[in-house]
Amino acid sequence: MSAQATAAASGANATQRFRENKQTSAVANQERVALLAGRLIKAANDIVLEERVTYEEYNALKAWLIQVGEDGEWPLFLDVWLEHSVEEVATSHRKGNKGSIEGPYYVPNSPEHNSPATIEMRPEEKGTPLLFQGQVRSTDGSPLPNAKIELWHADEDGFYSQFAPNIPEWNLRGTFITDEEGNFQINTIQPAPYQIPTDGACGQLIAAAGWHAWRPAHLHLKVSAPGYELLTTQLYFPGDPHNDDDIATATKPELMLDIQPAAGRQGVQTSYNFVLDPEA
Ligand code: DHB
Ligand code: FE
Repeated sequence: MSAQATAAASGANATQRFRENKQTSAVANQERVALLAGRLIKAANDIVLEERVTYEEYNALKAWLIQVGEDGEWPLFLDVWLEHSVEEVATSHRKGNKGSIEGPYYVPNSPEHNSPATIEMRPEEKGTPLLFQGQVRSTDGSPLPNAKIELWHADEDGFYSQFAPNIPEWNLRGTFITDEEGNFQINTIQPAPYQIPTDGACGQLIAAAGWHAWRPAHLHLKVSAPGYELLTTQLYFPGDPHNDDDIATATKPELMLDIQPAAGRQGVQTSYNFVLDPEA
């Protein structure tokens, strides 16, 4: 790789993508703004009073917050340390799969393939070949043909296309359509564990606090079908050293894959079924 991946570059990309793709108009409900902003400010003041925060610490915080903005790391910061709770609230009513965080690296409209298919990858793509298959069903058990499975994940070096330099645009990103029985079969490679950028403001905080920057290896997915709630989730690989201390707190026992040697071919295979809730 001639250019290095930097926190500032991936942060700037994530910030730009967020602005393009998400509905970010101000919440119109004044009562709700006053309640939530008021509680956040009170919680911060309570910490200052209880922990007897000094001016030195207050100014360090101020400098750090300014730096998070300059590095474009607000999407990263929020998705690592807050999104998991928002996800929990958003999906707690579901009878089917509840899901996990989206994270900062989703890109809509990835190239579409009918299942079975191979995700776009470089001819020399490194990593263990992974056959990922399963079925999409409704909570009543009926299979969902023509359901959409959007898959995106890091490469063997832990980098995401469109957020790190010198990776083809749609590398390891694709949209897969289930067959008439709701089944899918996707050929890809096993992603590496991912370290959130360590050279920006978030990395500085992690180092200063003596934490680690790792997310366990994961597949990102959005599963959708007309008339059903969108499922945003992640799937994980048994044995990863960070399955139990993910920096983004986004693992769940039911999101652990069962990885087997691939039948009659190189690499590994795994099956996972998705269950979608009908829209209310
Ligand atoms: C971050 C990156 C991820 O790949 C992810 O799944 C969640 C968060 C991040 O860098 O913030
Ligand atoms: Fe990720």
